[in-house]
Amino acid sequence: MEPKRRLRLVGPSLLAVVIGLASCAHSSADHARLAARPGKVVDPNAEPAEPEVPHDDTPAMNTEYFLGTAESEAAQFAEFSRQIQELQRKAASEHSQPLQRGFHAKSHACLDGELRLDPRRDPRTRFGVLAEGQETRRIVARFSNGVGWKQADGELDARGLAFKVFGVPGTKYMADEQDTQDFLMTNSPTPVGRDAVEFMEFARANAKGRVAGLFFLAGHASTAAKALVRTNAVDSMVTERYWSGGVHHLGAHQAVKFSTRPCDLRLVREPARDGDDYLRRDLALAAKEGVCMTLYVQLQTDPVKTPIENSSVVWEETDSPILPVARIVMPPQDVPLAATAACDQLAFTPWHSIPAHKPMGHINRARRFVYAASQSLRGSKP
Ligand code: HEM
Repeated sequence: MEPKRRLRLVGPSLLAVVIGLASCAHSSADHARLAARPGKVVDPNAEPAEPEVPHDDTPAMNTEYFLGTAESEAAQFAEFSRQIQELQRKAASEHSQPLQRGFHAKSHACLDGELRLDPRRDPRTRFGVLAEGQETRRIVARFSNGVGWKQADGELDARGLAFKVFGVPGTKYMADEQDTQDFLMTNSPTPVGRDAVEFMEFARANAKGRVAGLFFLAGHASTAAKALVRTNAVDSMVTERYWSGGVHHLGAHQAVKFSTRPCDLRLVREPARDGDDYLRRDLALAAKEGVCMTLYVQLQTDPVKTPIENSSVVWEETDSPILPVARIVMPPQDVPLAATAACDQLAFTPWHSIPAHKPMGHINRARRFVYAASQSLRGSKP
């Protein structure tokens, strides 16, 4: 979308907020206004509120704001869905590969395991799948590269970890799965872009080739730098940290980000980086011994330092510490040294969700439609 139209769409009040967020600078006047704003009391078990239409006010904790209006966002997301399918067709034809995921096309492997809650987890985190009552649930985790075609693991790229928790009752936002809760993360604390508009600009530039993608990033230094740092080739999928990037509810009254780290922080793997699929071979070897990751939650502590709508702002751990809540334990197992249809056909989306973890923010609102478009074109099977 070209800038002039976007400015009109955003409106003056949200624009002011966004500019403030981008610079990460918040004046004492901001804080005085925030302090004056009466806190909203929200029942943790309520259905999360819909986003608010931007108004002449400072942002509030745990509150989403439309980038424009509900109607303009709906039109925008329909257009992004069309564009994703166009990118899928383009990737298939240019790389002589079948129609596959719009992003994260290459699976390294899918591992079975369990989500085991930490009995000492912070009481503020005990909602949804982290609530008391069921301490262990079955999961499947898919490890992937970032781009929407299969390429050598040594190439510049993001890496993904998605895990699906089974046996989760409750209202769902998507019709295709009724008993799951998905968590999607990449090895960068922020996605490329403050919102889905910038993310899609990057996606379109990247599909034109590496040079165009890098030009985009060069022109968006503030949003891209943090994400780019992490796109180099990695040693292993099991020694990486992964972040949700986008924000989720944790109970209707709180906004959080999720992340993972290896359970053993001293874990080092140094595989020979020989061949296009060295990450898959390393993951298969690691799986033989078992893989363990700790799941963390970061609570929103400040609407400016830890924003919801501007996904390019890192939630610093000095502003909001990471709180360990569970372990993702993948016991010793054999995984095939080639991609399997069962792993490739899984469908992950942050909107496979119960209300207690409802995704928040523009980048996540777009994903509700875009993932479904990608999945319907590639023919995923739950
Ligand atoms: C908030 C940051 C984001 C994170 C952490 C993230 C992470 C991921 C991960 C891990 C996957 C692979 C899931 C799997 O294993 O099947 C994935 C797939 C995908 N992502 Fe994202 N993503 C983000 C933002 C976005 C945005 C903004 C868009 C587009 C507007 C997008 C579009 C897609 C698509 C189309 C797929 C493939 C869906 C499918 O066919 O299954 N993502 N993402």
